[in-house]
Amino acid sequence: MIQLYWKNATDKVVGDAHGVSQADLDELKPRMCQAHEAVKAQIDAGRLGYAALPTHAGYAAQVKALVDKYRSTTTDLVVLGIGGSALGNIALQAALNPAIYNLLSDARRGGPRLFVLDNVDPAMVSDTLKLVGRRGARGLLVNVISKSGETAETASQFMIFREMLKKKLGDDFASHIVATTDTEKGTLHEIAIADGYDMLAVPGDVGGRFSVLSPVGLFSAAMCGIDIDELLAGAAEMQERIATAPCMNPACRLAAIKYIATTAKGKPTHVMMPYSNRLYPLADWYRQLWAESLGKRVDRDGNEVFTGPTPIKALGTTDQHSQVQLYREGPNDKLTVFLEVKKHPKDVRVPDDFADVPGLTYLRKTKLSKLLSAEKVATEYALAASNRPSVTIRFDEIMPHSVGEFIYLYEFVTSLMGELLNIDAYDQPAVELGKKATFALMGREGYDDVAADIKPFTRVDRNYLS
Ligand code: PA5
Repeated sequence: MIQLYWKNATDKVVGDAHGVSQADLDELKPRMCQAHEAVKAQIDAGRLGYAALPTHAGYAAQVKALVDKYRSTTTDLVVLGIGGSALGNIALQAALNPAIYNLLSDARRGGPRLFVLDNVDPAMVSDTLKLVGRRGARGLLVNVISKSGETAETASQFMIFREMLKKKLGDDFASHIVATTDTEKGTLHEIAIADGYDMLAVPGDVGGRFSVLSPVGLFSAAMCGIDIDELLAGAAEMQERIATAPCMNPACRLAAIKYIATTAKGKPTHVMMPYSNRLYPLADWYRQLWAESLGKRVDRDGNEVFTGPTPIKALGTTDQHSQVQLYREGPNDKLTVFLEVKKHPKDVRVPDDFADVPGLTYLRKTKLSKLLSAEKVATEYALAASNRPSVTIRFDEIMPHSVGEFIYLYEFVTSLMGELLNIDAYDQPAVELGKKATFALMGREGYDDVAADIKPFTRVDRNYLS
C-alpha cells in the first residue's frame, strides 16, 4: 500500500505564507467534492477511458496470449514509441526489474532484453541496431507503439527496423513485429493488416499519457516478467480507495495541496524527487502527465488563463548535491513530492572498517537503505527549515501492486487538478504546431502554409551569431 504524508506541507511546519492550513483545506472542500463528483460522473459516463483499464480483463488477456506466443523465442524486445507510447514502458521496467536486467544472461533474465527507443538520436538508434542485429534477428521482436501511427519519430524508427528485419529474415519478418495501435484506423493499423503483424490495442478513448495500464505499457512489462495482474490489481485498489472515501482520499488530499500551493501559496513548480533510482523514471512519466494535461492557454469557458504547474524531476540523494541549494535558497516557488521506499528490493551493508578514522566511523556496519532514508529526512527537514513545503508518497515496497496504485493515484490527481483549474486535461493542442512544422521541414505534402511561416527559422542570421 502507498500512503501520502503531508504534514510538512502545512502552515504548522512551513508557516502561513507557504503552508496549507486547515482553513485553506476547509475552504476548498466544497469545490474539491464537486471536482471529485465531476470526475466520477465522467468515469460513469465512460468518458475517461483510463479509469476502465485497471479492471479491463480483456486487454490483460490479449497481452498474455501474445506473451505466451513470443516470450520463449524472444531474446531482444525493441519498443519503438515516444511520449505516452514509451514513458510508461520505461518507468515500469525501471521500477520492477533490476537496473542490470539487460546485462543478465538470457537464462537469469527469463525474458528478453528490453530497449525502449523513445528518440531519433541517430547514434542511439544505430548502436541499438548493431547490438540487437549481432544476435541475428531470429530472437528479435519489435513492438511498434503509436496511436496515430503517423508520429514522425516512431514511423521513421519503424521503417528502419522493418527494413532490417526484412533483410535478415526475408518473408518471415512480419512474425517479428507486434503493432500496438488504433484497432480500427490509421496508417500503422493499415500497414499491420497488410504485412500481417499481431496487433494490440491503444484504446481509442485513452490518451497516450494515460495509457500505461493498457496494452501500450502492459506488453513489454509482461514480456520482461512483470506481474501485470498485480500491477492492475494495485491500480484497481487505489481506484476503490478513492471511490469509497469521496473528498477524504489520498488523491483529493494531494490534489488539494497541489492546487492550494499553486494558486494561493506561490508554488507553481512541482518537484518529484524519488529516493530510489528504480522510481526515478516514474518522475519522467509524471512530468508528461502533468505538463501535457495541465499546461493550457484557455480554460473550459474559453478564457485565456495560461495555467499549469511546471513539473520538475530530481533524484535523492544525487540532487542534494546539485539542486537542493536552489530549492532552499532560490525562489520559494516549489512544492516537493518525495517518493520514499521503506523496504528496498536489495540492501548493502558498509563494511566494519576504518575504526580509527573519526570522520568515517559512523558509517561502519550501516546499511545503505538506512543512509538513504536518513538523507531523505535530512532534506525534508532542511527544506522545512527554509519554509519550503513538501509531501511524501511512501511505498512499503516497490512491487507491481504499489506501482499500480501510484499510477492510478497520479492519473486521478491529474483529473482532479483539471477540474479545479477548469481546463481540459485530456487534449494537447500546443503539441500540434511542432508536429506540423516538422512535417513541413521534412517535405511532407499538405503542409505548405506552415512551411512558409517556418522559413525564417531555417536560416541562421549571422548578425546574431557570436
Ligand atoms: O500523450 C500523448 O498523447 C503523446 O505524448 C503521444 O503519446 C505521443 O505524441 C505519441 O503519439 P502516438 O502514440 O500517436 O505516436
